[in-house]
Amino acid sequence: MSLDNHLLLRAIRKEPVERTPVWIMRQAGRYLPEYIKLKNQAGGFMNLIKNPELACEITLQPLERFNLDSAIIFSDILVITELFGIELEFIEKVGPVLSKTLRTEDDLKKINTDFDFEKVDYVYKTAKLLKTELNNKVPLIGFIGSPWTVATYIIEGNSTKNFSKVLNILKNDKIFLKSLLDTITKASINHLERQIKSGVDVTMVFDTWGGLLEGDLYEEFSLQYINAIHSSLKSYKKPMIYYIRNPYTKLVNIQKLDVDVVGIDSSITISEFNKGTGDKFCVQGNLDVEILKLSNNKIEEEVIKILSNINNTTGHIFNLGTGITPDIDPAKLKTLIDVLAKVSPRYTIK
Ligand code: CP3
Repeated sequence: MSLDNHLLLRAIRKEPVERTPVWIMRQAGRYLPEYIKLKNQAGGFMNLIKNPELACEITLQPLERFNLDSAIIFSDILVITELFGIELEFIEKVGPVLSKTLRTEDDLKKINTDFDFEKVDYVYKTAKLLKTELNNKVPLIGFIGSPWTVATYIIEGNSTKNFSKVLNILKNDKIFLKSLLDTITKASINHLERQIKSGVDVTMVFDTWGGLLEGDLYEEFSLQYINAIHSSLKSYKKPMIYYIRNPYTKLVNIQKLDVDVVGIDSSITISEFNKGTGDKFCVQGNLDVEILKLSNNKIEEEVIKILSNINNTTGHIFNLGTGITPDIDPAKLKTLIDVLAKVSPRYTIK
């Protein structure tokens, strides 16, 4: 069977499906003991993603355990900061820490924007290895962060709860912010194009912090850059998934996106989302990860709630609303995937 007819790609095109396809954000990660073991052996997360053989093995771990309909390259949205000469470190219980921040035009002028993609070549090598290993069994997702979401980290320097520095720049130095976003966009297009050329079947843009921007600001500082990325890579004909949290207040804006799929968190139902965006997209999501801490019966109930909320299910890829967290028992994820395979045929258009 050609990959073009794979369940996930049919769902993206809103064609009939025999069951709802599923994959899980952060499906390779700390909730899996085999991940922790390999990470400790390698000496940390960055050592895993920088070693294509290990990154490939980690990517495949969840597919060996569960019946998943997609693989996603084991990497991070922040690796492109290395192109800016910023060193990236992930500290246990703290998250990403960047060796420097960019907060003014002068900071940006010091960066060599003639980017050397050899620095992140490990991502493309991992993609190539995965394409061989997967042998077209499931599609491979390649990804980037949205320019806005990556900019929040480059400005703040680490994970923040209040985003005070980036919001201050949004208010007081729009010119610098736009030059930074333009520069990140240029790097991101090139990085995603290289992943496509290494074999990825589907692309994804994570706009985790797009929800900080409202209305016109959202269009001006996030959405237009996503559409620029989409139009630059359109000729490759690879579907694009756009992920955002808290989309509720910006459905009319989101409708202006050119992407194929929108991934949403659990702050809104899929039917409300579809109504607000004119049924334009295939939707990915949107089970609350906390449900995976409840009984198997409750998990089944919540899966049915999502499926029955969408009329005539196609154009739906099942996923969580956010990434799976380290406190989830892998057995609960197996329950979710098995329950979905059992009940979703009742709700899909064949
Ligand atoms: O989903 C996958 O399995 C693919 C790999 C992937 C990772 N991060 C691996 C990772 C993907 C697609 C990402 C995306 C990412 N990275 C996002 C957008 C999605 C989201 O979660 O909202 C963001 C904001 C980041 C930046 C990032 N990476 C943070 C803030 C952190 C620390 C906090 C956390 O959630 O762990 C990371 C670390 C990270 N990225 C881990 C993994 C598996 C954990 C690393 C570890 O083992 O310590």
